[in-house]
Amino acid sequence: MAESLNIPQNATKEDVYKGIIPQIKSLIEGEENLISNLANVSAVLDMAFKHLWTGFYLMDGNILVLGPFQGPIACTRIPVRPIARGVCGVAAESGETQLVPDVDKFSGHIACASDSRSEIVVPLVGSDGATKLVLDIDSLQLNCFDKIDQKYCEKIVQIIKKQHF
Ligand code: SME
Repeated sequence: MAESLNIPQNATKEDVYKGIIPQIKSLIEGEENLISNLANVSAVLDMAFKHLWTGFYLMDGNILVLGPFQGPIACTRIPVRPIARGVCGVAAESGETQLVPDVDKFSGHIACASDSRSEIVVPLVGSDGATKLVLDIDSLQLNCFDKIDQKYCEKIVQIIKKQHF
């Protein structure tokens, strides 16, 4: 398994994603442990983009529990049912990616880091239709995430799904 990462320099965001996705794929396909793989995916995304916070929450019954991440400490438990809390809870409950250009305008946003300004949360929905985990990325900048992030983060989540769910 390659333990060094090649991140395209002076490249567009899309080209950075295109460069790291095959490397994420080979990291994940070479390892059976979910937590190890989530840890490496959060590290790759952090090394590539250096956002404020990049990580995972895993479904445990009716709540999301903090998983592997890079960045400041974060809240450990986010309710999903009976009432979905925060961007992560809504993504987990709806099974749909949440792109939040301004977290202050998202009703119920949970400010784990008070200087977070925008966020993307991508759920992994298993073949049984249940959400298994979410990928959450937070930025210091407003409007940081767009359809390009959505497209490639959803691809990354699909790679995790193929290996584990
Ligand atoms: N902001 C998230 C909570 C998790 S932290 O950002 C790491 C939310 O509203 O669900």
